[in-house]
Amino acid sequence: MNIRDQIFEKVTSFPTLPTITQRLLSIIEDPNAADAEIGRVIQYDPALTANVLKAANSAFLGFSKPVSSITEASVRVGKKWIFQIAVSSLIYSNLNVFAKGYELTAEQLWRHSMAVALMSENFGKILRLGDTGMIFTGGLVHDIGKIALHDAVDEYYDQLQEIVDTDELSFEEAERKLLGIDHAEVGALIAEHWKFSPAIIDIIRWHHYPQGAEQITSAIDIVHAADALCMMEGFGLGKEGLQYHVCQESLSRLDLTKETVETAVSRVMDSLENIEDMFSDKPAECAAVRR
Ligand SMILES: [Fe+2]
Ligand SMILES: [Fe+2]
Repeated sequence: MNIRDQIFEKVTSFPTLPTITQRLLSIIEDPNAADAEIGRVIQYDPALTANVLKAANSAFLGFSKPVSSITEASVRVGKKWIFQIAVSSLIYSNLNVFAKGYELTAEQLWRHSMAVALMSENFGKILRLGDTGMIFTGGLVHDIGKIALHDAVDEYYDQLQEIVDTDELSFEEAERKLLGIDHAEVGALIAEHWKFSPAIIDIIRWHHYPQGAEQITSAIDIVHAADALCMMEGFGLGKEGLQYHVCQESLSRLDLTKETVETAVSRVMDSLENIEDMFSDKPAECAAVRR
């Protein structure tokens, strides 16, 4: 069996994400869904409720009186924030993996993913896009393919490195050349397996090469730009930092000014620190996939 087939088999044997994840994603993607709906979904999952309340009561938000229900929390901090914490909490255990081949500790992979999610969300807000919840999630899971590909990357480490150096290819191009598949494609397969929306699957699949998408959306351009920027800012470099190819067409389509980028970077720095605190001691056991 070739490497591509082995990876494919591995991905399809992954446990699926709890159905609550899809329900949360469909609510956030539905502009007609009521704010209270998100609380109604979360409240039936005690562990997830505990995580969201813990985050809501963290020092970051500084409420004088702690909140004791999801409804109360969503009134104070808003549906979008509740959604972000809930989805991050459900994805956390999947991204909390030592991606050996990529030279990324579990903490670095999580930090990079969260930084890209926050940066993407900020760009979405600045560009006044409506679906920033979906863009945040796309950013959060863009490198999810690494959790399935890191063993193979580790095994062929020297050859991959040589291809990057001698052929001047980016790391994911070297993956494709040697392994027949890259982590973006593996990630898209995982997202399909998890029944994520086509918009999120496309973000993952084209996060290194937006020009390849049949329909280039702002969400794809944004996550690509956010990923590139997070690399430059040093949010989780690892092996992927080698020969990172930035898509100039994406940058011109987004037309982000220097000021916009600087604002987004400083906002991300602040939020990242606070969010890291929330996840610093392990979140309560939630229904997410564990391996
Ligand atoms: Fe990537
Ligand atoms: Fe990335």
